[in-house]
Amino acid sequence: MLERIYLDNSATTPVDPAVVEAMMPFLTGKFGNASSIHFYGQEAKAAVDRARHQVAALLNARPNEIVFTSGGTESNNLAVRGLINARASSADGRDGLTGCHVITTAIEHPAVANVCEALEKKGCSVTYLPVYQDGIVRVNDVSAAIREETVLVSVMAANNEIGTIQPVAEVGRLVRTLRNEGQKIWFHTDAVQAVGKIRVDVEEIGCDLLSLSGHKINAPKGIGALYVRRGVRLEAQNVGGRQERGLRGGTEPVQMIAALGTACEIAERRLETGSVSVAELRDRLEAGVLEAVPESSINGSREARLPNITNISFKGVEGEALLISLDMQGIAVSTGSACSSGSLEPSPVIRALGHGDEFARGAVRFSLGPQNTIEEIDRVLEVLPASVENLRRLSPRNAAAK
Ligand SMILES: Cc1ncc(COP(=O)(O)O)c(C=O)c1O
Repeated sequence: MLERIYLDNSATTPVDPAVVEAMMPFLTGKFGNASSIHFYGQEAKAAVDRARHQVAALLNARPNEIVFTSGGTESNNLAVRGLINARASSADGRDGLTGCHVITTAIEHPAVANVCEALEKKGCSVTYLPVYQDGIVRVNDVSAAIREETVLVSVMAANNEIGTIQPVAEVGRLVRTLRNEGQKIWFHTDAVQAVGKIRVDVEEIGCDLLSLSGHKINAPKGIGALYVRRGVRLEAQNVGGRQERGLRGGTEPVQMIAALGTACEIAERRLETGSVSVAELRDRLEAGVLEAVPESSINGSREARLPNITNISFKGVEGEALLISLDMQGIAVSTGSACSSGSLEPSPVIRALGHGDEFARGAVRFSLGPQNTIEEIDRVLEVLPASVENLRRLSPRNAAAK
């Protein structure tokens, strides 16, 4: 039977058995509604409170600054739309969102980028800051883009395709300085890929809003959280009951919240040791590929990046073709390409590095997790060079060049 190797942990992660165990009581006997006053309700509420403490502890936040959501996408929507809409409705004489300015980057996940585009259609103006060859945004560029009417800066903590870590603490300092000078401006960071991989501390970052997602840290899909600094006003995007301090109506999914809490506790413990071995495996993979495959190169900074991601471009190869070839040999990876009207659009993130379309088309992301082993990496190194060589030989472009 084909041995399967999962190197797509940035897409999603396997649920940790301890997380499943933490969920089980709330799928069976402890089925109460956390808003009910009776015993069953209190049992459920205690589980939600406990999870709120666990999530807060991982982020160095206060428990009452954590709002549970359905995942990273909802957290980003609540942060960005929620803040802009709250500002717009409180601004005197403003027509809708006209007069609001947001600063973000060219490499945000669609869960921020597309929200910004939707806001633009409603009259908000948005600046998309470039990144450089290293895949990192510059704080000077953030500073230069600030206007009097800038109300939100949204810069991701780490990129999902290339893993580059953004200078969010410096952005946080800049935004705080402006606020101390009287500007009504806030800072959101999408930390979906960073949480659990590197230390993420809301005080160190100085952010007002921070998004995270359960399924990237070994909890199930469909649960996430938004950190909302005390005093920051948001407009609820899911309007209903008064759950989550009125910021997110709907009966709390207690079993999912318990799962996220436990996943955060495990992530905190793992941060002490885990990332080092994941980084070692990533480095072994990277060194092996660069040595064995000519005309392959790493995308983005090799210093300021998450321990678990490497994104490699293979010249003259379609990333999708390599993905399929590897999948047929039991190895799961991903590309950042998106299928639009039947043709493959190269990844906007790799394009933003300024390397040209050929590099963007040939980019493949390998993302590791604590469950990966040296044997798995060595198996990839056995298979990959021949796959690339085959695809290069078969490529019509390469044949035409001969
Ligand atoms: C950086 C980033 N933000 C947001 C999301 C969306 O999170 P979710 O899948 O929980 O909605 C992802 C998921 O890939 C991501 O990588």
